[in-house]
Parts: sequence; C-alpha cells; structure tokens
Amino acid sequence: MEELRKVYRTGSSFAKTMEIRAIDGIDLDIAKGEVLGLLGESGSGKTTLGKILAGIEKPSAGKVLLFGEDAEKFLKKSRKKVQMIFQNPDTSLNPRMSVGETLKEALQAGGREGSTQEIKELLEMVGLEVKYMGYYPSQLSGGQKQRVAIARALSVKPDLIIGDEIVSALDATVKVQILSLMQELQREFGFTLLFISHDLPITRAVSNRIAVMYLGKIVEILSPEELMDNPMHPYTRHLLSSLPSIYLKGISLDGKRLRLKEIQGPTKGCKLQRVCPFATKRCSEEEPPMVKNGKDHFVFCHLYSKN
Ligand SMILES: Nc1ncnc2c1ncn2[C@@H]1O[C@H](COP(=O)(O)OP(=O)(O)OP(=O)(O)O)[C@@H](O)[C@H]1O
Ligand code: SF4
Ligand SMILES: [Mg+2]
Repeated sequence: MEELRKVYRTGSSFAKTMEIRAIDGIDLDIAKGEVLGLLGESGSGKTTLGKILAGIEKPSAGKVLLFGEDAEKFLKKSRKKVQMIFQNPDTSLNPRMSVGETLKEALQAGGREGSTQEIKELLEMVGLEVKYMGYYPSQLSGGQKQRVAIARALSVKPDLIIGDEIVSALDATVKVQILSLMQELQREFGFTLLFISHDLPITRAVSNRIAVMYLGKIVEILSPEELMDNPMHPYTRHLLSSLPSIYLKGISLDGKRLRLKEIQGPTKGCKLQRVCPFATKRCSEEEPPMVKNGKDHFVFCHLYSKN
C-alpha cells in the first residue's frame, strides 16, 4: 500500500457535507503467508482498510499492492483469491440457503464442481459434522455459523483472508475454538491472514506482526513480543495501559491518560496532537516520521525522531 486514502462524504445537499477521512495516508506491505494483526479502537478505519483490500470499497487515492501487484489488476483476474469474513455471520450468510447450498454456490463460483464430496471436505476442514449440510443458518449457533463462513471463504482456495472481528460476537470458549481453527487452517493452507481486531490480547496471540491504527493512520508496526516488551508509540502504550496489570511491564504514560474522543483528527501533523501528553509544537506542524527500531519495528512519532 502506498499513501492509501479513503474519504467518506456524509450528509445531503441540504445538510452540510462532512468528510470522514477513514484512511488517511497508509503505507503497508502484507507479506505472503503472514498473519498480520490490524489493531485499533472503533472508528480507526480497520474495516475500511479491509474492504479496500477485498475490492469492496475503492480507495479515494493511493495504491494498494497485493503480493507485489497492483490490487485492482490482481482483483480483476483473481477476485475470489481475496476473501473477507465479517463479525456477524447473520448478515453474511443467506438465511434462505442451507449450509450445503451456500457451500455449493461458493465452490461453483470458484470454478469447482460443488459436489457433495467437496462440500463434505469443507465441512470437515472447519470441524462441522456432515449432518449440518441440510441445516439453515437459523438452526446454527454463532460459532457454527462462523465455521460455515470460514468454509465458504476456504472453498475458493484464497491467497488472502481478511477476518474482520471474526470472534468479537462469540462467547469466550467459542472464541478460543474459532481462533485455534483459524490458526490451524492458516498453517495448513498457508494463506495470508489480515486479522482485524480491537482486542489486544487476542491480536497478540494470533499474529506474526501487528499494525496499530488510530484515526486512519498506522502508528506502529511491531512483533507480538515487542508489543509486550517494548511498545513505543503513546497510543500503543495507551492501549496496553487499559489491560490488567499482568500485561504491564514498566509501561508508563507518566500517569497521564489519553483522552480519545475525536472521530476525526487534525488534518496536519500527528492525529494525536490534541490528546497526547508528550505533544510538542512540532507534532502539530509536521507529519510524524517513520522511525525504525530494530529489524521489524517501526514507530511513527516525533518522540523518537533523531533530528
Ligand atoms: N460507508 C460509510 N459512510 C460514511 N462514513 C463511514 C462509512 N464507513 C465507515 N465510515 C466512517 O469511517 C471511519 C472508519 O470506519 P471503520 O468502520 O473503517 O472503522 P473500524 O476501525 O472498523 O471501527 P469498528 O471497530 O467500530 O468496526 C469511521 O469514522 C466511520 O464512521
Ligand atoms: S508525534 Fe507527538 S503528538 Fe503524536 S504521538 Fe508522538 S509525541 Fe504524541
Ligand atoms: Mg470495523
């Protein structure tokens, strides 16, 4: 991704139009076969970024690269190779189609036969018994529905799966089951997974690399280990500081808390300049630079600027 942007315009011709800069300048490369966690609070633009990658939304500016190729071109020839799974399977599964019919349709859309054997194999992959083939979504639990949504995504042998809060609506034990299923499948089939979540411990547990987002910007990219041992950006530290103390290893905001109320940050300089206890004049004037700290750790903040 290079300088990716997405602006939503809201309001009618009578009301004042409001521009929401959901994605406000993002550069991010997603490597083949990795699990990249996209972590951020509500409204940070995670879903928008996922939808752009899946070709559901068009960016307003900038460029997305999928596996080194222009995303629009990539999606034109192999749209099915990028699959998005959403938080709520009720809205993504057709209530009038049985599990078997849903999977048959997906297999056929991916150029396969859609035979009973293929459907059985998919069900087995996601840990559902064959009997569920004849069930309708209303007869399934939340976890079972999410398994069907995962099977549907797998039916086309995707290169990239975008999982948008896929366990957020599930009970704790079911959450764990679906997460380990997703991890097993990723290891077995080697697809790239963009794991979108607002839940820090879960993101840390499943990802190889984590990108932290705030108001349309990536503020830090780091490994799960660095997230715990060496979080650098004030926003990442803020996210950690709201967790139980077992997660806190010498993390301090000097007793100051961030007051995050804005849905739209300033247009110039750092998005956090009005709420960050460390902000200086420079933060309102200049875009935070990307500072590299070790091999795979990047932080976008003036605090760490060398000049
Ligand atoms: N279709 C749309 N029209 C107008 N504004 C939108 C639209 N979709 C998203 N937005 C706005 O863009 C911003 C980013 O939204 P997005 O859904 O990408 O965030 P998110 O990080 O996925 O949040 P959440 O955790 O709540 O799902 C928000 O301010 C949201 O209100
Ligand atoms: S750039 Fe400035 S305002 Fe932004 S997080 Fe860093 S110190 Fe705070
Ligand atoms: Mg979202």
